[in-house]
Amino acid sequence: MAGPRPGARAEIQSLRERIEQHDHRYYVLDDPLISDAEYDQLLKQLIKLEEQHPEYQSAHSPTRRVGGRVAGGFAPVAHPVPMMSLANAMQADEVHEFDRRVREFAESNAPIEYTAEPKIDGLAVSLRFEHGWLARAATRGDGRTGEDITQNMRQVLGEDTRLHGKPPSLLEVRGEVFMKLADFERLNREQKKRDEKQFVNPRNAAAGSLRQLDPAITARRPLSYEIYAIGETSADKLPNRYPDLLEWIGDFGIPISKERRCVKGAEGCIEYYESLQTRRDNLAYEIDGVVYKVARRDWQHGLGATAKSPRWALAHKFPPAEMTTRVRAIDLQVGRTGAVTPVARLDPVFVGGVTVSNATLHNRAEIERLDVRVGDRVWLRRAGDVIPEIVRILPEERPKSARPFVFPDACPVCDTPIVYADDGVIARCSGGLFCPAQRKGLLRHFVSRKALDIEGCGERLIEELVDSGRVSEVADLYNLKQAELAELVLAEPDPDARTKSGKPLAARKVGKKVAAKLIRALDESRDTELPRFLFGLGIPLVGETTAETLALHFGDLDPIIAADQETLEQVPDIGPLVAKSIRTFFDQPHNRRVIERLRKVGLRWPAVTRHAPTDTALSGKKVVITGTLSAPRPEIKKTLQALGAVVSAQVSKNTDYLLAGENPGSKATKAEELGVPLLTEAEYRKICAAAGVDAA
Ligand code: IVH
Repeated sequence: MAGPRPGARAEIQSLRERIEQHDHRYYVLDDPLISDAEYDQLLKQLIKLEEQHPEYQSAHSPTRRVGGRVAGGFAPVAHPVPMMSLANAMQADEVHEFDRRVREFAESNAPIEYTAEPKIDGLAVSLRFEHGWLARAATRGDGRTGEDITQNMRQVLGEDTRLHGKPPSLLEVRGEVFMKLADFERLNREQKKRDEKQFVNPRNAAAGSLRQLDPAITARRPLSYEIYAIGETSADKLPNRYPDLLEWIGDFGIPISKERRCVKGAEGCIEYYESLQTRRDNLAYEIDGVVYKVARRDWQHGLGATAKSPRWALAHKFPPAEMTTRVRAIDLQVGRTGAVTPVARLDPVFVGGVTVSNATLHNRAEIERLDVRVGDRVWLRRAGDVIPEIVRILPEERPKSARPFVFPDACPVCDTPIVYADDGVIARCSGGLFCPAQRKGLLRHFVSRKALDIEGCGERLIEELVDSGRVSEVADLYNLKQAELAELVLAEPDPDARTKSGKPLAARKVGKKVAAKLIRALDESRDTELPRFLFGLGIPLVGETTAETLALHFGDLDPIIAADQETLEQVPDIGPLVAKSIRTFFDQPHNRRVIERLRKVGLRWPAVTRHAPTDTALSGKKVVITGTLSAPRPEIKKTLQALGAVVSAQVSKNTDYLLAGENPGSKATKAEELGVPLLTEAEYRKICAAAGVDAA
C-alpha cells in the first residue's frame, strides 16, 4: 500500500482551519463569507482526505462535530441530549444508498416507512417547557453546549404563551426558528431605507435577529418557528411512530410542519422531494432541501448515530439558492428606451438551479449602495424564478487594485451624451433611434411574443439587420426580400460560446428555409390586434395591460393619437405620468411617421368593441389577480374587463380587490398589509352570473 502522500497533512490542516473560520463566521457572527453549498464542498473535500489518510484523523476535526460555538454575551447551556446535525445527500443514488442501509438494519425487503418534511433554512433551537411554560431556550451551539436565548425566544412565542392541554412537567422540543420570505424581504427593505446592513438570506436574518443581546430588538423582528424533534421529557410513554410523536407535540399548541408526509421507500422519498421542489417557490419560507426520517422510533434508536449525525435521517438538498462569486467586469447595457443599465459580468456559478454569469446592478445608486467594484467577491442570490441579484460584497476579500466604478458621460454604444434624471439615479442615452442599441431594442420588442409575435426574428438576426444597415426602423422589416434574407450570414456574438462537443460556434447563413418561414411570419403578423400593436410601439410606461386598457377605452388608434393629456387621464388606471408619456410619444413627428409607414406596409387590426358594462359590481374597480384559479389567467382577465374592471399587475393602495386563487403568495400579503379586500373565485363567479357574463 502506498504511504501517506506528501503534503496531505498540511492540506488537511489548512482545510480544517478554513472550515473553522467559516464556522465562526456562520454560527457566531451570523455573517458568512461563503454559501452553504461552498461550505459543504470544503467539508466533503476534508472527509475524503481524512478517509484516504486515517493516520491524520483527529477527534477535534470539524468532520466529527457540529460547527457552532458559544459566542460571548450569552450564558452557555448544556444539552443533556446532544443536538445533532444531518447527513446530506445531493443525488438520488445517495437516497437509495441510505434506504439500503436502513433496510439492511431492519432486515427487511419491504419498503421502509419514512416521514418526509421540508428542511427549513433557519437555525436550530431547543425549547424546554416546564409545567407548560417556556423555562429555557437555547441555540444548538456545538451540539453539546448552546447559548441561552430564553428571553429572546419568549419574544418569539409571546411572553404569556403556555402550552395547551396537559403537557408533561418537563418537555424539551427541538426545531427551527426562521423568517418567512415576505418578512425577510420587508426587513431588508427597511434595513436598506435606514442604510443598514442587508441580510444575505432569511436564515442569516433569523439568526441575527434571535441572537441579539437586547431582547427588545428580537421582539421587533418577525420570527416564526416549527418543531421537528423531541429532547428530554418526563413523559413516560411516548408514541413509537415519529409522525404520531409530532402530532402529540402539536396537540400542545406547538407548531409542526403542515408539509410533512408519510412516504414509503427511497422512491416515495424522491417523489416527495420532486413534488416539494416544484412548490418550493410558493412556500412562505425558504427551504434548502427535504429531510427523511425513519418513522419507527425503536428503529431510530437501533440505527443510532455517528459522531455528528443520526443514521436514521437524511437531508436531501436542493440546488443552492445563493453562492459567492467574483465580478469580472461591469458593463453598461442600453435598452430600447435608452435606459443605461449597469450589468455585472460574473465568474459563472450554479445558483438556483441555473448557471449565472450576469446580474443586473439596476442603476448608479445601487452600485454606490453596494459599493461593488470590478474584482470584488460578491454574494449572489437567485431565489425562485426571480432574476439573480448581488446582495452584498465581501469587503474582506477586496483586491487592493479595485477602484470605484465611474459612470461615463457618453453612451457606450453611440457616444452621444448620457442624461441623468431622478437625482442622477436614472441614466438615459440621448441618442434616440440614432443609437443602434435603442434601435435593436425596439425591434426585439416589436417582434416579441406579446407584441407582434413574429417567430424566427431572433437576436442575432436583428443584430445583423441593423449593423448591415438593412433595417433601421420596424417598418423596414416588412420590405425584406426572401432571397436577401437567405444569404445573410449571422455572426456568433460570444467568441467563448462552444457547441456541445466543445467546438467554437461558427457563423452561419440564414438559408432558404428559415428565410421563407420568416417572410411567412412577417406576412401573417400584418393582421394584428390593436393592443399588440400599441404595446409593440414601445411607448415608455405602456405595458401590455395599459395597451389593452387604451384599446378597450378608445376602440381604435386614431382617437388615442388625438386624445389630449386630460382625456387620457380619465381612462381608468392611467395616471398623469403614463398619460404624459403617451402624449409625448405621439407628439413626436418621428413616431407618427413610424406608425404611418407601418400602416403603409399593410399592418391592420379590427376595431375593438367597447363592451364594458357600467353597472356590474366590478365596473371601474381596480382588480389584481393572484394564485391559481380554475381558468387560465388571460381568460379571467378578459372576463374581468368585460365586467368593466381594470386589471392591474401589482397591488397598490389604489387596488379595489385582490382576486385570489389557491397559493396566493406575496400579493396576498401585500393586500393584507394595505387593507385591500380579497375576492374569492366563488364571489367572482357570482358577480359574473349577476351581470350575465360568462365566467372564464
Ligand atoms: S432533524 C437529529 N428536521 O437542519 C436530527 N433538522 O443539518 C436533528 N433542519 O440542525 C435535525 N429542518 O437546523 C431536522 N425537518 C427538519 C429540519 C432540520 C431543518 C435543520 C436543523 C438541523 C440541520 C441539520
